[in-house]
Order: sequence, then C-alpha cells, then structure tokens
Amino acid sequence: MSQAKIIDGNAVAADVRAAVAARVAALKASGAPVPGLAVVLVGEDPASQVYVRNKNKRAAEAGIASFEHHLPADTSEADLLALVERLNLDPAVHGILVQLPLPEQIDAQKVLDSIHPSKDVDGFHPFNVGRLATGGAALVPCTPLGCLLLAKRELGSLAGKRAIVVGRSNIVGKPMAQLLLRESATVTVAHSRTQDLPGECRRADILVAAVGRPEMIRGDWIKPGALVLDVGINRVPAAEPGKTRLVGDVAFAEAVTVAGAITPVPGGIGPMTIAMLLRNVLEACCRIHDLPFEDVL
Ligand code: GUN
Repeated sequence: MSQAKIIDGNAVAADVRAAVAARVAALKASGAPVPGLAVVLVGEDPASQVYVRNKNKRAAEAGIASFEHHLPADTSEADLLALVERLNLDPAVHGILVQLPLPEQIDAQKVLDSIHPSKDVDGFHPFNVGRLATGGAALVPCTPLGCLLLAKRELGSLAGKRAIVVGRSNIVGKPMAQLLLRESATVTVAHSRTQDLPGECRRADILVAAVGRPEMIRGDWIKPGALVLDVGINRVPAAEPGKTRLVGDVAFAEAVTVAGAITPVPGGIGPMTIAMLLRNVLEACCRIHDLPFEDVL
C-alpha cells in the first residue's frame, strides 16, 4: 500500500504571507500607499466572527491596514449598501470583503454587485467573474486561487491534465474550473446530478472536492497517484461523546493510500484562503495605483 505526500497547507500559506509582507514593506519603503482591507461583518454568526478575527490578525501581520465594520444583525440592505459605497470611495481601502452569509433581509448578490470591481478581493463581482471566464486580468476568489497555487507547486504545468471539480458553487467550484481551464487542463465539473461520480473521479489526475459533504469521496474513487485537493470543512461528532471534529469532503484515511499527494483537513486548503486574500489585497492596491504587481511564489 502506498502513502501519499501530505501537503502542508499551513507551511505554504506561511510562505505566501511572508512574500506578501515583504512586498508590502517594499511598497511602504518606496513611499507608495499602505494596502488597506475593509472587512464587513453583519450579525453574530460565530464561525464568521472567527474568520473575520483571523483575517484582521493576518492582515496586520502582513503590514496591511485593516478596517473592521461590525454591523448589527438587523442592519437594512440600504445601510449596508451605503457602507459599501463609502468604502468604494475611501482611498485608504483597496480591498472590500463582505463576510457571507448575510442575514435574510439582505440580498447578498445585490451587495456583492455593489462592490467596486477594482476592490473586489473576493472576486465575486460579475465583472471579475466575467474577466476570469474570458481570460482577462481579474481578481480571483481566494480558495480556488489557493488550490491552483498548491496544484502548480505539486505538478508544475497542468496542461493536458485531466481535472475534476466536484461542486459547482460560485465561491469555489465554478472559479476553480475556470482557473484549471486557463492552465490548459481538461476540466470536468461534477455535481449532485452527475451520473457515475466515482467513475468520473477515477479518471482525474487532479481532484478538487468542494461539495460540503463529510467524507463523501472514497478512496476507491481516486486514480492512483492523483493530486487530491480537499476544500471541505465539515464538523462531525467525534468518538468522545459531546465533542466534534473537522473532516473534509474526502475520506482521508482511505484516500491517502491511493493518491500521489493530498491536502489534509484541517491544515490543507483552509489556511491558504486567507493567505490568498492578502495576496489579492496587494494586487488590488498595485493595480489601483498603477504599480507593478509581481505574483507571490
Ligand atoms: N464566507 C465563507 N467563505 C467566504 C469567503 O471566501 N468570502 C466571504 N466574503 N465570505 C465567506
């Protein structure tokens, strides 16, 4: 039985953050503006509060100015749109992130559409979605961008590789497919209506799992030697009563005996997301100020 390489997402994310911090320091030293990130949180969702706290902490460590806006759960759509408009016009802010999910009285797409595309560090605005699809310069969603970085580090060129993306969300699945296509991979997007999902997965040199179903993808669905990137973060009951643990969308213990390389959960894709967010803030700042942007790593 073989044993896959376990990709250390924490280590790669730390490298990305260090590279961003070095660029930010160089920008400051040259007299250029300090990159700024505004994070907007509406309501008290505990998971969102943890994410937002981490984003602010990591931004500060990289020398990025962070501006946190915490609004009450009963905030109206009009008030949130007004805040986004202020941030669109604020020259100290180069990236705007409105944490999802939003309370039900707010139309999330309307809010995402109101963020200026040049400050859309989540890459969710239709302008950036369209640019990614048509091959132009775009701000790209952080999680798929992190997956792409790991894939290129593992495999070098992705040209001609067969890739499958399981999941078709706007946040991960669809942009992931576009990024893989941009790298000349042969891409399949699978979802809940796909027939013979195990068979489709078994053909793939690169498997990206982003469905949000604990351990759905089994070891015998994986092509021997394939690269497996597990985006799932699912909380399930632990063996000890009353405790929980995190698992991915891939049955790790099985997959690790078949794959060539695999990301664990936690410690795989998760830490890459915030690292790529900081990279996107740096890119947005450079583009807004017409400064050269050299990609990290
Ligand atoms: N909620 C969960 N993931 C994300 C993300 O990547 N961006 C935003 N804005 N909200 C999220």
